[in-house]
Parts: sequence; structure tokens; C-alpha cells
Amino acid sequence: MQTALVQESALSFRAVSKRFGSRMAVDRLDLEVGRGEVFGFLGPNGAGKTTTMRMALGLIKPTSGCVEVLGRDVQLEGRRVLPHVGPLVETPALYPHLSGRTNLRIFGAELGRVSAARIESLLELTALDERQDDRVSSYSLGMRQRLGLAVALLHDPELLILDEPANGLDPAGIREIRALLRQLRDQGKTVFLSSHVLGEVGRVCDRVAILRQGALVYSGRVDALLSEAGYFEVKVAEVDSALAWIREQAWGRSARLDKDGTIVSPSPSGRGRELNSTLSAAGFIPDAIGPRQRDLEAVFLELTEGRP
Ligand SMILES: Nc1ncnc2c1ncn2[C@@H]1O[C@H](COP(=O)(O)OP(=O)(O)OP(=O)(O)O)[C@@H](O)[C@H]1O
Ligand SMILES: [Mg+2]
Repeated sequence: MQTALVQESALSFRAVSKRFGSRMAVDRLDLEVGRGEVFGFLGPNGAGKTTTMRMALGLIKPTSGCVEVLGRDVQLEGRRVLPHVGPLVETPALYPHLSGRTNLRIFGAELGRVSAARIESLLELTALDERQDDRVSSYSLGMRQRLGLAVALLHDPELLILDEPANGLDPAGIREIRALLRQLRDQGKTVFLSSHVLGEVGRVCDRVAILRQGALVYSGRVDALLSEAGYFEVKVAEVDSALAWIREQAWGRSARLDKDGTIVSPSPSGRGRELNSTLSAAGFIPDAIGPRQRDLEAVFLELTEGRP
């Protein structure tokens, strides 16, 4: 049973802590990333994301606890397991005076046995095929970032550990990275990626973990984080009188007005259709009713900016 569980998980942190002097950069982190998942690792600056990823890549040693990569303790069996991992931590060290393709050839030669066809397909995957013969120094930040990803993918790793792959990119660049991540997911890769912008990973990741000052403050599905169970958003012309009426009802005492003039209300039965018919019967015909969705950035700030 235990073995089966371990094999399902691509990356697991078990009570992992990292202390730098008196500062706890990572504080008893427990986290499990399943195979084939695109998992978002979030937190504001200094939360401990890079430190965590460096531990997963065997670059630094946890003060306590252990990190298992593809079912093996990375401290004990790093040599065996790290060849199956594609890292992108901080800006990739590329040769600026050489072309994108030559960079891939050189990094490929270091790994040994990376075919020309593989390089070709990676240039295509990262949408660099048209600029492959240009010097990297002439590339935009987004193109460099994508080339860095191509380098991380050279040896066809099962697991990708990507530290802020969209850092510093404009919306178009972020969209390109997102498209690339979706393709990797479709290929069945496991991706563990960090970001300090929830909106950026919310669209590609099913699950996220949120770190604050080294400690986990949330781990779970993005939709669960965003939905406010049992509440609906109601657009109606007569906002004030409709809200007053709802609040007079036994089921509606907790209804409130959102910043943008939307009513946030429970339903008499817990279902949106009853809320719709009840309001209509009372003479307040809703223009729209939908499940309450909380704002991504507001949720993130709430979780990460509270007092420690
Ligand atoms: N080598 C080090 N020596 C001392 N302190 C360190 C070291 N590396 C990281 N830290 C500290 O550990 C904490 C976490 O840093 P880390 O770089 O992991 O955060 P991060 O979440 O990646 O932040 P960012 O979003 O800015 O990249 C910070 O307080 C940082 O100053
Ligand atoms: Mg970092």
C-alpha cells in the first residue's frame, strides 16, 4: 500500500524545514504532487519558494525532513533520480553570442545522446523554430525563458521543477508560457511551478499550494479556493430594495453588497434556481445569477498578508 502511494507521487515534501541562521526559510512543509499534475507553488517574495525548489533539486540540504523525487529521497539517491528532472531555477545560463539551436546542441552534448530530431521538436514546442539561427543576445526575455525551458526539456524529463518561468514577462509572454505548460501537461509531464501571481497559475494548475513566510497556508484545488460555497452573485436593477428584501427573509440575513454593486446572497434552498424564482416572485427579476466566485488576487492577499 505504502509503495503504491509513493509511486503515484512525483514529488513529496515530508516535514521539510530549511533554516538560514535564525531565519526559518521553509517551516515543516508537507506537500504531495501527483504524477501528471501541473501544480502551482505560490507565495509572495521571500516566502521560501526558491529555497524549496533548490531542496527538491538537491542543490541545498534541508535542515530537517526529507524530499522525495519520483519516489526516492533526493539527498540519498539524487544521482539516480535527478536525470529524470528538468530544472529551471532563476534565469537560465545561456550562451548569448550563440544561436538558440547551438545552445541546445551544446547543452544536449553535455547530457549525451540528444538527437537532432529532439532539438528540432523542442524548438517547435517552444515556438523558437523561426528564430533558431539568431543569436540568443537578440532574443526577447520571453524567448530566452522559452529557450531555458527547452534546455530543461532536452533529456525528456518526467518531472519539471520551474521557478517563476513567467517572471518578468508581459501578458503575451505569460500566455506563451501558459500554452507551453498545457502542452507539457498533455504529454503527461508532471510540472511543479512557482509564481508570486496566483492569476498566472490559476489557469493552468488544478491544485496549488500557498506559502507564507515559509509555512503552508493553503494546499488544494484552485476552484475550492475561489468558490464561496452556498453564495450566489445576483445582478438586478433595483439593488437597494432587492437587498433589503432578501435580508428580511430568514434564509437571506447574511446577504451583502459587493464593491461593484452585485448582491452576494444565499439561496432559500442552496440552489441558484430557487433564488431566481423567489426573487422574481417578489418582483425583483434578476438580470443574472451565478455562483459566487472570489477574486483570485484578493484571496491570495488575504492568505499571505495576514499577521504571522
Ligand atoms: N542562501 C541564503 N542565505 C540566507 N538566507 C537565505 C538564503 N536563501 C534564501 N534566504 C532567505 O530565505 C527566505 C526565503 O527565500 P526564497 O528565495 O526561498 O523566497 P522566494 O519565495 O523564492 O522569494 P521570491 O519571490 O522573491 O523569489 C528569505 O527570507 C531569504 O532571505
Ligand atoms: Mg524565488
